[in-house]
Amino acid sequence: MTELAEGVYWVGVVDWGLRHFHGHELSTHRGSTYNAYLVRDEKTALVDTVWGPFADKFLAGLREAVDLADIDYVVANHAEPDHSGALPALMRECPDATVVVSKKGAESIPGHYHEDWTFQTVGTGDRIRLGERELVFVEAPMLHWPDSMFTYLAPDGILMPNDAFGQHYATAYRFNDQVDQDELWQEALKYYANILTPFSPLVAKKIDELLGLNLPVEMIAPSHGVLWRDEPLQIVEAYRAWAEQKGEVRAVVLYDTMWHATRRMAEAVGEGLAAEGVPYKILHLATTDRNDALVELFRSRGIVIGSPTLNNGLLPTVMPILEDCRGLKFRNKVGAAFGSYGWSGEGVGLIEEHFETCKIPLAGKGVLAKWQPTEEDLGRCRDLGRKVAQALKTT
Ligand code: FEO
Repeated sequence: MTELAEGVYWVGVVDWGLRHFHGHELSTHRGSTYNAYLVRDEKTALVDTVWGPFADKFLAGLREAVDLADIDYVVANHAEPDHSGALPALMRECPDATVVVSKKGAESIPGHYHEDWTFQTVGTGDRIRLGERELVFVEAPMLHWPDSMFTYLAPDGILMPNDAFGQHYATAYRFNDQVDQDELWQEALKYYANILTPFSPLVAKKIDELLGLNLPVEMIAPSHGVLWRDEPLQIVEAYRAWAEQKGEVRAVVLYDTMWHATRRMAEAVGEGLAAEGVPYKILHLATTDRNDALVELFRSRGIVIGSPTLNNGLLPTVMPILEDCRGLKFRNKVGAAFGSYGWSGEGVGLIEEHFETCKIPLAGKGVLAKWQPTEEDLGRCRDLGRKVAQALKTT
């Protein structure tokens, strides 16, 4: 339990051991936290809970701050089980509490738990007075579920935006000014790139709407990671910039290889990029964490992907990143493809088709090399790297 203001407490749990999230969809090298907040006034409110496996630990901590039967409101900003999973255990202790949900939450929370709790549905601008304090609600649909909602505590100026502005980052500390800044920003960017990128147009609109409400923001208390108390709007400004998806003049070369022919081609593409002075990274997809690769994709305006042809298709390790390019709706990118083959050679064309599906224009015609690349093939790869670099510098 950590006091944020008099009578306002962080009552979440730290999950130091978490290494995969959303099943195995998202890597979490630095663990995570599930943040919940307790507000004690004439009425007592709890904002969000924690993931189900931590329900006992959560309730034990909460009991140190409040008699659970005294809780009047439980705000469920979002139904995803990392925040709502402890609701059933909690509601057994305070069955008379009102569960406050957004309009879509009125479908998703009962849809998860099928319990006969008392619900109150709120929309943007609705308020619940607790005494001296008031909860103000702002719906945030598709940031990142239809039910997502922000809760603002007045007059303390504490914004509890659930997943938005969070990080999967377990630390011994609760506030942004107490932790390693490189780690914090790496995790904040990884979170945005992997989860929020497809909703970027909505992020920009929501930020404008939020700032337009003229609610003073003294602290941003997300549902994962550390709380932003030192210059809290810095993460809002970062989100605004990330939502523009401008990217940097740099490239990422992603490849997999069977007998190192496509690896040699990847390195030649890199030489072409280097010749034009464009920074780049080469990532071997078979040995690179997919979510870390997606951060490089998010940052880089140039995306070059290589695969040998296998069974008239691509190596299986290449397919997920292509699917991510589609699903995450990356914008303002330039693409190119390369790869070796033995007899049929469909791989490069398939990558180019994926780029077309993702609306990523090609910087040049892809390079195919039969068996091991010749010096001429490697020269064509260097030319491809140069073309990508030139496209990045001129668009
Ligand atoms: Fe959308 Fe942290 O769950």
